[in-house]
Amino acid sequence: MSDIETQIRDALADIQQTDSLDALQALRVSLLGKSGSITAQLKSLGKLAPEERKAAGAAINQGKVRIAQALDERRGALADKVLEQRLASERVDVTLPGRDGARGGIHPIQRVLERIAYIFERLGYQRAEGPEIEDDWHNFEALNFPPHHPARAMHDTFYFPDGRLLRTHTSPVQIRALMGRTPPVRIIAPGKVYRSDSDQTHSPMFHQIEGLLVDETSSFADLKGTLAAFVRAFFERDFEMRFRPSFFPFTEPSAELDIRWDTGDGSERWMEVLGCGMVHPKVLEHCGIDPERYTGFAFGLGVERFAMLRYGVGDLRVFFENDMRFLRQFA
Ligand code: PHE
Repeated sequence: MSDIETQIRDALADIQQTDSLDALQALRVSLLGKSGSITAQLKSLGKLAPEERKAAGAAINQGKVRIAQALDERRGALADKVLEQRLASERVDVTLPGRDGARGGIHPIQRVLERIAYIFERLGYQRAEGPEIEDDWHNFEALNFPPHHPARAMHDTFYFPDGRLLRTHTSPVQIRALMGRTPPVRIIAPGKVYRSDSDQTHSPMFHQIEGLLVDETSSFADLKGTLAAFVRAFFERDFEMRFRPSFFPFTEPSAELDIRWDTGDGSERWMEVLGCGMVHPKVLEHCGIDPERYTGFAFGLGVERFAMLRYGVGDLRVFFENDMRFLRQFA
């Protein structure tokens, strides 16, 4: 009898000790299974004397019930624990900030280009385009650069074997915009241009924006007013400006616009920001437009120069190195 009670007490203690559902199942089999120890006790009742059998049978059966109950309770507790662990390990912290997708940004040159074009679009200019691979006529001849004119030498042109070239400025778009059109014409033409030139302030590929207005009344005063308004709108402040006489074959008179630039170290200096002038009568003639009736002005500016000034960048090459640490500042 005491044997059975010890066995039951041990079994109950073992059940409390189990720490997994698998171990508990194994224990259930070893106690109550076909060849389990409690089952073996029941089977051995027959060997007892009849007077002992009744009490022993009752004790074993009672023990068996208690063991079964304890097994069930323990299983419930272990199952709860498993569920809790799973809930803890799968928990989602809804307060965590979401993971960012890789976000792109507009390149600073494109940003400045769009900004300039937009300022002129608001003044009524329409966007125009031309090819980057040009012919000599559009890039030079029609713009009043005669063959062998010294002004051609300043352009450091990249030529193709067939005589075509990479356009050295956006001015050929003037020709394309005027050919077959009757003024008024007002265009703004941004794009890539190419010159065989490379240093801190020159890149073999850079961006220009060409502006052209042709109508019956435009004057140099209109050109000055337009460009002064543009520069103020672009930099969002006022400057001292000067129009300095210059030379371009396709404008007459020609000028360069300088602005009084605060260099940041307390000093100021004149910075050249664009070339401009009244459209040369020869250019209008080349495009089939009567220079006696029509007049116009044109200007061309370097986008990189404006970007360098606006963002305080001293070396133009950083715009083309695609160093993410630099570019990210503009995203
Ligand atoms: N095309 C000239 C250059 O690249 C700039 C310019 C454009 C000057 C239009 C006058 C008028 O230097």
